Amino acid sequence: MHLHAHALAGLAASAAALARAESETTPSSSHARAVPSGPEAWTAAYSSAAAALAKMSQSDKINIVTGVGWNKGPCVGNTSPIGSVGYPQLCLQDGPLGVRFGTGTTAFTPGIQAASTWDIDLIRQRGAYMGAEAKGCGVHVLLGPVAGPLGKNAAGGRNWEGFGPDPFLTGIAMAETIEGMQSAGVQATAKHYIGNEQELNRETMSSNIDDRTMHELYLWPFADAVHANVASVMCSYNKLNSTWACESDRANNQLLKKELGFQGYVMSDWNAQHTTNGAANGGMDMTMPGSDYGGKTILWGPQLNSAVNSNQVSKARLDDMAKRILAAWYLTGQNSGYPAINIKASVQGNHKENVRAVGRDGIVLLKNDGGILPLKKPSKIAVIGSAAVNNDKGINSCTDKGCNTGALGMGWGSGSVNYPYFVAPYDAIKSRAQTDGTTVTLHNSDSTANVASAASGADAAIVFLTSDSGEGYITVEKVLGDRNDLDPWHGGNQLVQAVAAANKNTIVVVHSVGPVILETILALPGVRAVVWAGLPSQESGNALVDVLYGATAPSGKLPYTIAKSASDYGTAVVRGDDNFAEGLFIDYRHFDKAGIAPRFEFGFGLSYTNFTYSDITITTTAKSGPATGTVVPGGREDLFDTVATVTATITNSGSVAGAEVAQLYLSLPASAPSAPPRQLRGFDKLPLAPGATATATFALRRRDLSYWDVRAQNWVVPAGSFGVSVGASSRDIRLTGTLSVT
Ligand SMILES: *[C@@H]1O[C@H](CO)[C@@H](O)[C@H](O)[C@H]1NC(C)=O
Ligand SMILES: *[C@@H]1O[C@H](CO)[C@@H](O)[C@H](O)[C@H]1NC(C)=O
Repeated sequence: MHLHAHALAGLAASAAALARAESETTPSSSHARAVPSGPEAWTAAYSSAAAALAKMSQSDKINIVTGVGWNKGPCVGNTSPIGSVGYPQLCLQDGPLGVRFGTGTTAFTPGIQAASTWDIDLIRQRGAYMGAEAKGCGVHVLLGPVAGPLGKNAAGGRNWEGFGPDPFLTGIAMAETIEGMQSAGVQATAKHYIGNEQELNRETMSSNIDDRTMHELYLWPFADAVHANVASVMCSYNKLNSTWACESDRANNQLLKKELGFQGYVMSDWNAQHTTNGAANGGMDMTMPGSDYGGKTILWGPQLNSAVNSNQVSKARLDDMAKRILAAWYLTGQNSGYPAINIKASVQGNHKENVRAVGRDGIVLLKNDGGILPLKKPSKIAVIGSAAVNNDKGINSCTDKGCNTGALGMGWGSGSVNYPYFVAPYDAIKSRAQTDGTTVTLHNSDSTANVASAASGADAAIVFLTSDSGEGYITVEKVLGDRNDLDPWHGGNQLVQAVAAANKNTIVVVHSVGPVILETILALPGVRAVVWAGLPSQESGNALVDVLYGATAPSGKLPYTIAKSASDYGTAVVRGDDNFAEGLFIDYRHFDKAGIAPRFEFGFGLSYTNFTYSDITITTTAKSGPATGTVVPGGREDLFDTVATVTATITNSGSVAGAEVAQLYLSLPASAPSAPPRQLRGFDKLPLAPGATATATFALRRRDLSYWDVRAQNWVVPAGSFGVSVGASSRDIRLTGTLSVT
């Protein structure tokens, strides 16, 4: 959604309610995910919903499925209260990294940074804290997290809002985020459903996705979201096979509600509805914001009422819409003691600790020649680039972050939020440098003029580069949303060339929404280190200093592939419709199949220590064949049964503490047709003191061993020998074994 909304001041949040919400959300202690199973979580909610529905008139029902209209309420989306059942004016607010337009709220890290940590405890805590803040502001429905775009196009403008192009990693991150958010009492929204992979022409194009690709890539993380009992799903702007996503019977009724057993409601993206009856009968349950942006066209409200009266939309369908919306409200316990709406409430608590931890642990060390990092009490360092300092017009001066001026902490669009403060890299470095008596010089520009004199003579020159993108309603420096290329902005390659010519200890720090082609920079002998700092949000400088100075060893791993050339990805933003001809082969699945060497592969990241892998064990009870369980939220119940367990011993063989993300990739047997060579199916992040050893455990669900059989219309475990690869990245495989299924 987009444009600007006004938020009215209301009552302050109840601190007690907030504290309670937080204490209820203990991060999961085990690395195996606790999965709430079965439909029972919804049963009580549905019986309360049925009782409420019985007291509601047809016009009440119309009112809770229809937004009040653009800019007509305190939140970006609002529906009418139903006094007879104690149902409030529902407040729906962006977005996926916190409360949009908040002034007393935290600017959480973007999804892609959370994914970069591969740390389910931090991801869950991030969700819980976002949920607590939303609740503190009286927001009933927070519009996130994002699994669409998944990120098939490296240049896709909104990829940074989500968790990257691997459906398994994204699925885990979706579930943890949703469970965190909803345990705090806010309704989560899994969006954008589905096939919204680019900004260009998103409101006219058709995404034509074959059934298997739909299941194994794009639908996969939404299944995890549904399994985590997500309250709502937002249908996207684009068409699917020429039918609007919000009217797609196949996507909404067949896949989401029937196959995945989704019990919550489907809301439209803002102004993504096109017809009255098509949307109602195509499975949409709530229209947002309820009118077009001019406030003139209203497709439900009185029009839905007429459609029901003339039987073009059945009364049962209207009841179903209303019941789903009510049930989600009861499911999250919002029927009692929910704070009044106040988007401007002060609700930050200690949540910046999560921002700093995700910012820090999402940093990926790509290159560190000769161990130049961590810094060792240098006497002089040079800090170079406009992105080292804050935008001098103000950290929130560009509407919806629609500029790339100064330090970069998030992309732009409706998925951005206000920064309460922003710790710029330069400020944090300067303050840390004081403890060592280091002199810091600043070249606060991307101009190569005079940069040699700033850089020469320093023990190290730290250069800041960026690449930005966002939602297509804002154009920034000729970038319409999707990136035009994967190069650093503002002449970054030339800047590094000039610095590295003057200083043979050049450290490049990249803040970026996604992959950047680094070949020019990496070819320079003076470039000794590359620190992939991602999108760290408000704690940027602190997170970076933690790693640069070795207070924490870097432990992030790339949630996408960094190619040698943009064309190596094999996918690109298209002008017309997108036939998704690459099928299953996006990101590393494509590089592996096509035999293309990436520059830095999916899952890659260095540390200040080394890890050794040993002693793989593999046990399985899996039987080949189709899933047979009854449908629970997320799909057939047996898909979520653990059917194999793999363990490996990981030892920190270096001299400092660190954390390793051990990764498990599966290769399906030949009886599964045309499967990708390797697919991520497990990961475990282990913090390890020097010399310490721990066991990485990967619990594989039936679903993780399955492929989607188009003819059987089911997930099938193929018979034969599965290749099991455990390693430090998708290509740095340290242990292999096989898993036999008959
Ligand atoms: C789109 O068409 C393809 C090819 O017929 C089919 O496999 C797929 O299920 C359709 N998807 C939707 C959402 O209609
Ligand atoms: C890690 O191991 C490699 C190869 O044995 C060695 O060159 C390197 O110095 C080690 N790094 C650390 C941080 O221990």
